[in-house]
Amino acid sequence: MRRKIAAGNWKMNGDNNLLDDLTTLTVGQNISDPEVIVCPPHTLLNKAVEKTVNSFIKIGGQDCHVEKDGAYTGDISASMIAETGAKYVIVGHSERRDGHNEDNQRVRAKVQAAWSAGLIAILCIGESAAERSSKDTLTIIGTQLHASLPDDATAVNTIVAYEPIWAIGTGKTPTLNQIKETHDMLRDELINRFGTEGMKIRLLYGGSVKATNATEIFQVENVDGALVGGASLKATDFQPIIDALAET
Ligand code: 13P
Repeated sequence: MRRKIAAGNWKMNGDNNLLDDLTTLTVGQNISDPEVIVCPPHTLLNKAVEKTVNSFIKIGGQDCHVEKDGAYTGDISASMIAETGAKYVIVGHSERRDGHNEDNQRVRAKVQAAWSAGLIAILCIGESAAERSSKDTLTIIGTQLHASLPDDATAVNTIVAYEPIWAIGTGKTPTLNQIKETHDMLRDELINRFGTEGMKIRLLYGGSVKATNATEIFQVENVDGALVGGASLKATDFQPIIDALAET
């Protein structure tokens, strides 16, 4: 059984007040309870770890540099994230791939950097609206998965998040059949490449997940949870998504 995951990506949002709000989330520790991961901006990582120390909420960063240290002004390394006590890091988010010109090769190096620092990588992949219209979705995300994920991926060091770019922050979501098609394909790819380990790697859906659509999305086979942006910015919005996952 794959333990479900509700992960919140705060992006460039949040402050101390939101961290206090975060601690009101009800999170369990059993295999039947969703694993809850919150990824605040890097400036809040230390405090987020401190504030959640007595809860089962886990903390992650939103990106890391490929190098451990060096002259990279404004960047942060995976080992720096790990030093805060955070256990996860998102890599390859479309807002990094597009906004910071990160190609699959660079994302792959970031996954490797995350692993070297002992972090679990949350690898994001997803197609654009144009790629969806030209029926290239499966080819694009298959290539991203293959090229961004190093060979020694396991269910312990990696989580994959499928996030169609056109669904992020737009209120639009793919149909349930489209989600099923992509997640089934990704599961097949993971099994082809990693064997039984590929059965165990968690596959999240991300893009306009809210309390109102969470239950139906979570019922799709091979959807092991969600990577949530906007609806993770308030405990009252995020909690129903965690609860929907617990009930699926
Ligand atoms: P939204 O949930 O705001 O659409 O964002 C999804 C996302 O990009 C999470 O990484």
